[in-house]
Amino acid sequence: MADKKNQVSRRQFLNYTLTGVGGFMGAAMIAPMVGFAVDPLLKGEKDTDYVYVMDVNEITNEPQRKTFQVDQVDGWYESKVDRTAWVYKDENDEILALSPVCTHLGCTVDWNSNQDFPNEFYCPCHDGRYDKNGVNIPGTPPTEPLHSYDFQIQDGKLMLGKAKARKGA
Ligand code: FES
Repeated sequence: MADKKNQVSRRQFLNYTLTGVGGFMGAAMIAPMVGFAVDPLLKGEKDTDYVYVMDVNEITNEPQRKTFQVDQVDGWYESKVDRTAWVYKDENDEILALSPVCTHLGCTVDWNSNQDFPNEFYCPCHDGRYDKNGVNIPGTPPTEPLHSYDFQIQDGKLMLGKAKARKGA
């Protein structure tokens, strides 16, 4: 004879089934909302975005100051922000795109602006100096070289990515 205590009544079966289906439907509705709410916070700045800055045939051996705009995502807020790069070819005709942000305390460096130190990047805030390759000159406040932008060349166009600290300098 079957044990009546272990049998599930019709009412209990209906309750379990409705609770299970209701829970599943609730999760199916809430999961996309949670994803939508949290997704912008999980997104970092895209590492793969490259922005057109200038044609490669316009790049000279003299650093040129170029301003461009990048998309910035801050939580749920997206905006365009200006970036600047010093773009030129070094003595080996290699392209360099340097950030103008001084690695001491973040002021803006200028090229060839101090007559006492020609052909150098100069930071007026604390007399920071960098040679033409953007390497900090010993004895001045900056302790590391100017950061350089990742770049790609696409159909003769220079595309800049993120500025990164240079290793080994
Ligand atoms: S911020 Fe450039 S030298 Fe101090």
